[in-house]
Amino acid sequence: MGIDPNFDANREKAGEENGLDVWGPVEPPEKLGIHGSHVAVDYDICIADGACLENCPVDVFDWVDTPDHPESERKVEPTREDQCIDCMLCVDICPVDAIDVDPSRS
Ligand code: F3S
Ligand code: F3S
Repeated sequence: MGIDPNFDANREKAGEENGLDVWGPVEPPEKLGIHGSHVAVDYDICIADGACLENCPVDVFDWVDTPDHPESERKVEPTREDQCIDCMLCVDICPVDAIDVDPSRS
């Protein structure tokens, strides 16, 4: 199952990291929540495929280390979500549907 597109209604904001909203539950290292709002990555689904980061035309994503997370030891942080041009490539290309993009959440 992929990221919940209604996460902003269904989850509580747990804080901020790298200037981005983080939506809980957050219980490290197993549960890391959803990072970002306009461009949102479900860290508990991401398997570090990397296609989003390699193909985003405006370079929104950075790698961050997530040691001991059950799915992968690194994740993509949508650090520059404010630069997103809503091409939806990352949403379409992610093999596990870990990303949701919605400009109305910015
Ligand atoms: Fe990049 Fe995804 Fe936006 S590929 S431009 S972050 S929709
Ligand atoms: Fe993760 Fe999907 Fe990108 S698995 S690294 S969000 S393509």
